[in-house]
Amino acid sequence: MSDIIQLLPESVANQIAAGEVIQRPASALKELLENAIDAGASAILVLVKDSGKSLIQVIDNGKGMTGTDARMSFLRHATSKISKADDLFTIRTKGFRGEALASIAAISQVELKTRRAETETGIRIEIEGSEIKSQSSCSCPVGTSVSLKNIFYNVPARRNFLKSDQIEFRHILEEFERVTIPHPEISFSLQHNDQLVYRLEKGTLKNRIVALFGSKINERLVPVEQQTNIISVHGYIGKPEHARKTRGEQFFFINGRFIKSAYLNHAVQSAYNQLLGSDSFPSYFILMDVDPKTIDVNIHPTKTEIKFEDEKSVYAILRSTIKLSLGKYNLTPTLDFEQEMSFANIPLKSDKAFIPQPTIKVNPRYNPFGSDTKTGALSSGKANWEQLYESHKSLPQAGETQVPLIPVTENRNPVPEDHSFYQTHGSYIVSSIKSGLLLVDQQGAHERILFEHYLTAIENGKGASQQMLFPKTIVLTTADFDLVRELMNEIRSLGFDLNEFGKNTFSINGVPADTGDSDGATLLEKLIESFKQNRSELRMETRENLARSLAKNASVKPGKLLNQMEMKDLIDRLFACASPRFSASGKHIIATLTLQDLENLFKKQSA
Ligand SMILES: Nc1ncnc2c1ncn2[C@@H]1O[C@H](COP(=O)(O)OP(=O)(O)O)[C@@H](O)[C@H]1O
Ligand SMILES: [Mg+2]
Repeated sequence: MSDIIQLLPESVANQIAAGEVIQRPASALKELLENAIDAGASAILVLVKDSGKSLIQVIDNGKGMTGTDARMSFLRHATSKISKADDLFTIRTKGFRGEALASIAAISQVELKTRRAETETGIRIEIEGSEIKSQSSCSCPVGTSVSLKNIFYNVPARRNFLKSDQIEFRHILEEFERVTIPHPEISFSLQHNDQLVYRLEKGTLKNRIVALFGSKINERLVPVEQQTNIISVHGYIGKPEHARKTRGEQFFFINGRFIKSAYLNHAVQSAYNQLLGSDSFPSYFILMDVDPKTIDVNIHPTKTEIKFEDEKSVYAILRSTIKLSLGKYNLTPTLDFEQEMSFANIPLKSDKAFIPQPTIKVNPRYNPFGSDTKTGALSSGKANWEQLYESHKSLPQAGETQVPLIPVTENRNPVPEDHSFYQTHGSYIVSSIKSGLLLVDQQGAHERILFEHYLTAIENGKGASQQMLFPKTIVLTTADFDLVRELMNEIRSLGFDLNEFGKNTFSINGVPADTGDSDGATLLEKLIESFKQNRSELRMETRENLARSLAKNASVKPGKLLNQMEMKDLIDRLFACASPRFSASGKHIIATLTLQDLENLFKKQSA
């Protein structure tokens, strides 16, 4: 048999490698911006068409390239930034893998124009699918312009995989923010379809943040600053009272590079400790500088994850730096009792007047020695829930009166069975059924009811809305604003009455009926946050995701005291659901204890 292994042609190898570095237009933009910064540019212009699907062009006034370098730059592993293995430990530039231009040229039509200061003319190269199409000298300013047209034109699977223009543009904005925040010393402009989206002048870090996120953010931030010999930290953190229900503006940068780190995020979140509920997220813009020797940025091609040599110390320093700032600026939280915090509704032990008198209903005609209960109950050992509930509903209701839970003296017969509902720990509903006891998780039940309700609302395109007395406005990050815009039809059919109201702002005039007295803005923020989380972690279908996210956030929280009517209504509605046994996220809602189970609990100890 002849040999079958062969080396892949360069263009194919490049295309495969491109898959790792360039997933979408935004990743190409990131690479081009980083190259421009590495080239020492002080002004960078970005032009984008159709969310980057037709064009991404980055023009810089950096040092430019010679003709030979310009040709070389498109080869894989061609870089001017490192030359030996040791250099990996001293990296100060953003690039060093020499893969970006090769990857970009493999999957799009690229035009490069570049000139160095010492030459009169520049060079222009056209390259397409890794193949040089033309090369000539040209007149152009000092610096480099790279334009990338029709990304993935030759990889239909990838091209088809691209999301809607709005989603792709959101990714572009996200990368733009990540690259521009740590470089306030460089001016940036971004144009989309010939419209100016951002013009970021040179200035301070604070100026940059304000230019990106709006002037309101100015008063919401306090500085952080710390120098140690392991790491130096500077930047801004959000005041606790401005924390959001969505993970909005959270940025870490190491040596000017945006990174993701759940570990460091935990350090920040824990510094806020008691100042924030677990469902609130502080904003932060934290820039850290470390000796490049002590980190490894080379663990992933997109370089958004890094490894620290001494992760624990970094964690501790970051946490204490933030605590210090929070203390220094005296950021005691303003307590907001309106705010829906888990367990906020649980009355304090000392607060006796607050505790409603628990009551049960009794049937005064009940005879514990009658035949009814014994036979009926024990026989239905394995009845399914529907029957359980049916049997419960059909129990006699006549002659019921309400009495306090603790039997009063004149009531000589403590009542062994009642036909009403108890709530325990503000979280579970207990009810007696023919065959034993029914236990219902109150939040899960409510979530299930709302989920099915919202799903139908979205599918029918019309959900009931409850008008707010005082309309609210909500300012979102650009990315979240675009997301809401994109989901506008669905969000409206959930029952939100929502209108655009200036830059990154919506006015909310109504909330979905059934969400109690929720604050519309908070509810919308929570909805967005859950939606994003479900989308990235579970890749859930949009409608189901929205219905589920809203149901989760609008459902009653543990600690919410319910009265008899509310409990009955909840149980009735639960059993009217298509799948009452499980919450939308798959948790059990119903449990039963049969009389047999109960009997077993109280069995005599065997000798
Ligand atoms: N905008 C630019 N200005 C000057 N030189 C550039 C520019 N973009 C790329 N280069 C040169 O091309 C080389 C290859 O770029 P790239 O493929 O992104 O790899 P890397 O950035 O990892 O070195 C760079 O090392 C640099 O020398
Ligand atoms: Mg690069």
